[in-house]
Amino acid sequence: MKGVVFDMLRDMVEASWGLEGWNAVLEEAGSEGLYISTQTYPDEELQALVEVAVKVTDQDAATLVFSFGEFMAGEFYQRFPGFFDAADNLLDFLYSVDQIVHLEVRKLYPDAQLPEFTYNRENADEMTMHYRSPRKLCWLAEGLISGSARHYGSFIEMHHSPCMHDGADHCSIRIRVVE
Ligand code: HEM
Ligand SMILES: [Zn+2]
Repeated sequence: MKGVVFDMLRDMVEASWGLEGWNAVLEEAGSEGLYISTQTYPDEELQALVEVAVKVTDQDAATLVFSFGEFMAGEFYQRFPGFFDAADNLLDFLYSVDQIVHLEVRKLYPDAQLPEFTYNRENADEMTMHYRSPRKLCWLAEGLISGSARHYGSFIEMHHSPCMHDGADHCSIRIRVVE
């Protein structure tokens, strides 16, 4: 995973638990904590940091990773506002993630390992995102969707089934904009 993602995890932990909290996480995970945003670091290291953060913050992994996704959406908006500004609404934005946003990200970071999304647009207010990635970070995807919804001022309901964590070969997340 790219250093930029580690930077964001640090920002989130620091925002709630200060530099001391982040240093405690680094120490317990045995990580040096020096990340260059464009460089790739082992997924295991991010996993270890998340596991320690789960302990330090006394949350379950799904909740923490979801919150991280919400936080990341805000950070992405600060770093790449153009992707959000290019879409008029939440569903159009989410629809652009696979073929526009992540495609551009790949140009920026040629060795990025990005997930694959395919889409079903049920109607004006409903869309399903089918998620495939060996990392099985569907809770992160849900958090990113939720954080993006907040950006557009939309209220949504999500329905997540099937799920790779239950043995399926992909996750489907159905999003319904309620207002
Ligand atoms: C401006 C918006 C966005 C930008 C700039 C962006 C960029 C990125 C970057 C840099 C990574 C890390 C890749 C790596 O470390 O190799 C990533 C991963 C990921 N992105 Fe996005 N992304 C955006 C929006 C979204 C949204 C809205 C979703 C949710 C549906 C999403 C889903 C994911 C997931 C789930 C991963 C984790 C990698 C995996 O599952 O294998 N992204 N994205
Ligand atoms: Zn899932």
